[in-house]
Amino acid sequence: MGRRALRKLPEGLDYSTHLLRPETMQTPFQASDYFSDFPQDGSADLEIEVGSGKGLFLANVASAVPERFFLGIEIAKKYAEFIAAKLARRGLQNARIMHGDAERFFAEQLPDNLLAAVHVYFPDPWWKKRHHKRRIMNERFLKDVARVLRPGGSLHFWTDVQDYFEQAVELIATKIPLSPPHSVDEATAEHDLDYRTHFERRTRLHGEAVYRARFEKP
Ligand SMILES: C[S@@+](CC[C@H](N)C(=O)[O-])C[C@H]1O[C@@H](n2cnc3c(N)ncnc32)[C@H](O)[C@@H]1O
Repeated sequence: MGRRALRKLPEGLDYSTHLLRPETMQTPFQASDYFSDFPQDGSADLEIEVGSGKGLFLANVASAVPERFFLGIEIAKKYAEFIAAKLARRGLQNARIMHGDAERFFAEQLPDNLLAAVHVYFPDPWWKKRHHKRRIMNERFLKDVARVLRPGGSLHFWTDVQDYFEQAVELIATKIPLSPPHSVDEATAEHDLDYRTHFERRTRLHGEAVYRARFEKP
């Protein structure tokens, strides 16, 4: 996966509050332990993004919707640190990034009926057929997504890989207790960074198709 180098992290910036690590977190996960403004009665909305990359979605959505809370999960340390620094620099108190494996975190640490939304944008495609089993949109993970979403909560899935999209839609239709896919329209980009994620930006600037769907938990 070709990627440009990340900008250097600003020296002296303390991003420790924004960077979470699963091994130091309580199980089951409780949002109020990590977001100081999260109401103790759990009445606010919490959304999780899986595979946050450079954090464009997380930073944009957290500043656009300050009354909601957002946790990104990123397995690559340098990206997780880069995102933590971005969130800290912008003073976003409703967003955190966890450096870890989203599949394990969903399976082992998230309680049932917790989340208002799960976002999966441009997950690693694992092109070779023998590697398809490594794709994150697998049956076990999707069963966990359905379990941890609260009723009415949404799974957002976007990709540029048509066969991955079709496989995931088919898997959800046959095995996962979520609605049929709702289609999602492409928005016009008003400026150079007006995309859901960096991968959406790159795909659209290359003139390639993006497949988007939203599924609901009944
Ligand atoms: C192709 S990139 C897409 C990044 C971003 N979502 C975007 O659209 O620009 C996929 C990202 O998912 C991360 N990732 C892969 N497997 C993961 C896992 N099990 N848990 C958390 N992050 C993961 C990768 O490190 C990478 O940053």
